[in-house]
Amino acid sequence: MKIKELPVKYQKIWAQCLPLFKRGRPGDAQHAKEVVELILGYRGKLKFDGDVLIPVAMMHDIGHTAILPEHFKYITGPEKVKNGKLVHMLVGAKIARDILSAVKYNKHASREIIDIISMHDADQLDLSDWRRLYTTRNKKIFHDLDSLDRYSAKRLKSMFSIGFKDPGQVFKVLEKFLDNFFFQEFKDIAQKSLAQLKK
Ligand SMILES: [Fe+2]
Repeated sequence: MKIKELPVKYQKIWAQCLPLFKRGRPGDAQHAKEVVELILGYRGKLKFDGDVLIPVAMMHDIGHTAILPEHFKYITGPEKVKNGKLVHMLVGAKIARDILSAVKYNKHASREIIDIISMHDADQLDLSDWRRLYTTRNKKIFHDLDSLDRYSAKRLKSMFSIGFKDPGQVFKVLEKFLDNFFFQEFKDIAQKSLAQLKK
């Protein structure tokens, strides 16, 4: 993505994100960029609300940049992974609020952006009724775009780097996540990519 080609209002947000990403997990800035690219490159029938979705794409995982190894040791117990997910969403919402107010972003859009960031990974919290939390179209669209980015060769590589060893195990996870898509068109793209990855 050429950030310089984006409207200045988005560039300002990205400029605030970059120093945070530098101290966060490797790959988070790349993932954010890829989801922005998915939005910019979309040529389908759905109407995308860029003023909400682009800032969400940039900042949705920014909460990870605030959870350092010395913090992570406090997230313990059998629910560790789930709790880590929850923390990154809540901390991310707070950081996004600070960034949006620093760049004087539209107030109405800001409220929605922060709301989406605070719950975007709800499908990974092991809730039986997680779909109920995706109450708006933007929440559903963003969920699918964020998920879609998992079905790329690059992402696959990064899954191996965080501890997955067996490709069969990774494909099983990706297969399972196919059921989580809200929109058939995104599920179809993911399914095709998965078939490609398996080759
Ligand atoms: Fe996330």
